[in-house]
Amino acid sequence: MKPRLWTVGLLATVMISACCRVEAKCSKGCDLALASYYLGPRSDLTFISEVLSASMADILSYNKDKVPNEDTYQTGIRVNVPFSCGCIDGKFLGHAFNYSSGHGDLYDTVAMKYFSNLTTVEWLQAFNPYPPTKIPDSAVLDVVVNCSCGNRAVSKEYGLFITYPLRPEDTLDNIAAEVNLTTTLLQSYNPGVNFSRGSGLVYIPGKDANGNYLPLKSRLIFDFFIAGLSVGAIVGISIAAIAVLSFLAFCIYHGIYRKEKVKEAILLSGSHKLSAQAGNVPGSDPAKPSESTGPVDGASTGITMDKSVEFSYEELAKATENFSLANKIGEGGSGAVYYAELRGEKAAIKKMDMQASKEFLAELKVLTHVNQLNLVRLIGYCVEGSLFLVYEYIENGNLSQHLRRSDREPLLWSTRVQIALDSARGLEYIHEHTVPVYIHRDIKSANILIDKNFHGKVADFGLTKLTKVEGACLQTRLVGTFGYMPPEYARCGDVSPKVDVYAFGVVLYELISAKEAVVKANGSIAELKGLVALFEEVLNQPDPREDLRKLVDPRLGDDYPLDSVWKVAQLAKACTQENPQLRPSMRSIAVALMTLSSSTEDWDVGSFYENHAQVNLMSGR
Ligand SMILES: Nc1ncnc2c1ncn2[C@@H]1O[C@H](COP(=O)(O)OP(=O)(O)OP(=O)(O)O)[C@@H](O)[C@H]1O
Ligand SMILES: [Mg+2]
Repeated sequence: MKPRLWTVGLLATVMISACCRVEAKCSKGCDLALASYYLGPRSDLTFISEVLSASMADILSYNKDKVPNEDTYQTGIRVNVPFSCGCIDGKFLGHAFNYSSGHGDLYDTVAMKYFSNLTTVEWLQAFNPYPPTKIPDSAVLDVVVNCSCGNRAVSKEYGLFITYPLRPEDTLDNIAAEVNLTTTLLQSYNPGVNFSRGSGLVYIPGKDANGNYLPLKSRLIFDFFIAGLSVGAIVGISIAAIAVLSFLAFCIYHGIYRKEKVKEAILLSGSHKLSAQAGNVPGSDPAKPSESTGPVDGASTGITMDKSVEFSYEELAKATENFSLANKIGEGGSGAVYYAELRGEKAAIKKMDMQASKEFLAELKVLTHVNQLNLVRLIGYCVEGSLFLVYEYIENGNLSQHLRRSDREPLLWSTRVQIALDSARGLEYIHEHTVPVYIHRDIKSANILIDKNFHGKVADFGLTKLTKVEGACLQTRLVGTFGYMPPEYARCGDVSPKVDVYAFGVVLYELISAKEAVVKANGSIAELKGLVALFEEVLNQPDPREDLRKLVDPRLGDDYPLDSVWKVAQLAKACTQENPQLRPSMRSIAVALMTLSSSTEDWDVGSFYENHAQVNLMSGR
């Protein structure tokens, strides 16, 4: 999007008014503050990165000593999450995060559970129009978190501050010992505050990503200087400031505009560089080569693509030892997959049985920009002879193998819930956050790959979109796998995100039972039965819990909480309802699974239905 002049004008106005408003309580914020987020027993860094809009790489860089990587961390610790600290309404320093509410959210759940007490119910009520008991689903809430940029009167040594919600176990002595600063200093930054009060915020000097305290910026010295001047001098300085800022705004406009032009040109010529592992912040436009996906990102690996991530056949042949049988990982409906070592990195190359059309290639270029933790990343492609797709290599096979192959250890129940949550997040991402949005249309356990830390990643999304064929009844050619297709799609090819929701429901039943999506009833091929029908027979009984046990994967033994299995079965049932409109969205599903994996609290079955009518419908009322 091109920056518009009015944006720059507004920027200048804001800057000018900020610098001239001497009576205001704050004039300007600072680039950086840190939010201290307490990691409870079932906390999840991905969730923290989503709610506080911080990239995982940033979170890791500020917590190197405590969190070696995103999958390895202790609970009961705090992580510092960077955010920008602004001056809100000229009155106080803070940052307004956006949180899209889920079904049944209350202000106290948002404040305490999702934002780890970084904000309060009162703050939420003050900034949002909804009554505490009636927050609409998917309302975008302003969640204001206070921050500090330092206090010159206390010390010039510290210019980066942690917004630190006190917990019952905290005391001034403990915190001072933990951060290796004196109690006097901490108390000076928080005058009159009792650090043992168990709740509320304090501000503590924090270290930057390199582990250093940042000194107070000259900006605050400038504020101090201004405050001591006469009105005449301030007017003079203000006029000069207006002139300087207008000039700056002009320069910024030209700077940004030129940068955008350059970006556009790069995108059009298809020659931008893209780092193989650089993580997009969820919600960012993946179709654009954003700053966070650029090679400047510290998380980059050896595969840096030029020429629009196109590889030569020679390079791929060399990387796979001439597509040798020894390198072959598997074979699916569209071709064989080979293990490769490409530019020093592991990769998986899919040799497709089809040729690439022009549209196909344009689409592939877009797909290479979609980058999310729970999606198998398409690194690039090659179109010499056949079409080759180059993916990031996922170490640990696919979910179908883990569930059914005897040479694999049975997956723990908690791992199954985690994999379900990971896949739900991947699907939610393509349904809601990519540009354009995608419908996978081939969700199945074989398309959920398992990484070395036993997290799930959705594979092969975006490919079915490339085989679009118009027809009389068929909105699109049927792509997908028998047993996972919902009735409306199998019958008439009706495609909506609810096609994926249905298939995801089947995967949930697979996670419970380890059975295939289509099973032989009475052990006979003549009597094939869908897993959905098999579960429904049980779940529609008056008291299904005990019979549900009979469907649970025998390899779990008694090592599972029936209550949790019951909830996942209920969720699967909601996903596989005949009427697509009654199925929940992937977002609601991800929220429900997150609640299940992160707490032992009672699950509200209604929370994954879009409205109460559906809950009643499900319970037969
Ligand atoms: N990026 C990858 N990293 C590691 N292994 C992979 C990767 N992509 C695919 N595989 C493996 O290769 C196998 C074949 O994959 P492929 O996608 O061709 O077939 P499928 O998923 O079984 O069926 P479909 O063609 O319907 O997707 C998969 O089962 C998977 O285990
Ligand atoms: Mg596949």
